[in-house]
Amino acid sequence: MSGERGRVLLAVCGGIAAYKACEVLRALQKSGCEVRVTMTEDATRFVGPVTFESLSGAPVATSLYDYPGSAIPHISLAEWADVAVVVPATANVLAKMACGIADDCLTTTLLACACPVLVAPGMNVHMWQNPATQANVSTLRERGVRFVGPDSGRLACGEVGEGKLASVDEVVEAALALLAPRDLAGFRVLVNAGPTHEAIDPVRYIANRSTGKMGYAIAAAAARRGAEVTLVSGPTSLVTPADARRVDVVSAAQMHDAMLAAFDAADVAICSAAVADYTPVAPADHKLKKSHEHLDAIQLTETADILADLCATKGARVVVGFAAETDDLLAHAQEKVDHKGADLIVANDVSRPESTFGADTNRVALVTANGIEQLDTMPLANVADAILDWVRNHASRQ
Ligand code: CTP
Repeated sequence: MSGERGRVLLAVCGGIAAYKACEVLRALQKSGCEVRVTMTEDATRFVGPVTFESLSGAPVATSLYDYPGSAIPHISLAEWADVAVVVPATANVLAKMACGIADDCLTTTLLACACPVLVAPGMNVHMWQNPATQANVSTLRERGVRFVGPDSGRLACGEVGEGKLASVDEVVEAALALLAPRDLAGFRVLVNAGPTHEAIDPVRYIANRSTGKMGYAIAAAAARRGAEVTLVSGPTSLVTPADARRVDVVSAAQMHDAMLAAFDAADVAICSAAVADYTPVAPADHKLKKSHEHLDAIQLTETADILADLCATKGARVVVGFAAETDDLLAHAQEKVDHKGADLIVANDVSRPESTFGADTNRVALVTANGIEQLDTMPLANVADAILDWVRNHASRQ
């Protein structure tokens, strides 16, 4: 059980095909994966947890309150996993996943998973074809959940039709395809993310609409792919990606200092942060009174350009910037390649719903001095992987 291929969380739900999950577990192990298991209570009626415990060599998580080795199994398992595979996925668990319901160990763990999630449905044909189930499947697909099967055939209930769990080989192949290669092992990747807050006084500040989701997705994907990741983050409400070192900053000046300090020990820098372009010249040390303290005329000064400063000292290292635009996207992005000296500018049109601030998808173009590659609208994790693929092909470990 070396696990050199990756770590798979097997989520077993209460359907007759639960016994097939044992075979999936075995096949994953044979392919070099380490497997841990969480089960619903109903699943334990079909196959005892002892079976999965013996096969996996690890405790099986069936309860949020009783899991050896961790007081918070749903978080530790979700962070541990490189991929989560739901076998068999029942209509009930699909519905809970689509609604974000977390009312047992399995669904809570799935909700906490930032890794790719693969779902292998197995159920009665009418339950599968029910518009409610189909709507849930569409919702989950849109969010980036991958599906394998179901196949058509004779079902355990005696009916013939769609709903049969995909074959063990299909499930395993789909899971392996989702296991990120650790192709960035040895790379030190520095990422910045989120907005900055520029203080006007102790109460007020200037900020922007960035949520940091894109940068956090890049940091998570880079860490998953084996890179040593430092994430310099402006104020966000996001959870630190597993295995990333996070440095919190507030202002553009703090982000500038943190990025330049960390760049010494980096092979790659990816500047996805929406850094404030201007900051108040003299933030007040007390709350300004609107009646007589000139809140209508705050004097601003331009901030230092972090991306341009990194590019000025980068040498052979790869530096990636972003261009969030509302018009003339590609022309502006190309200007940024030229002016800032970045190797790659990731351009997105923030006036479109699929690529705006806070969206879970993005539609970007990869713009370099040599040309433009337009990518499709994809979940943020896939956009992150596409950017990192470009980085892997152009960067070298220093
Ligand atoms: N950037 C930076 N430091 C700044 C401003 C921007 O590092 N003070 C970086 C961003 O992180 C991004 C790139 O520069 O990678 C482009 O940012 P953007 O806001 O699109 O462009 P600006 O250079 O600020 O120009 P403009 O706002 O006029 O488009």
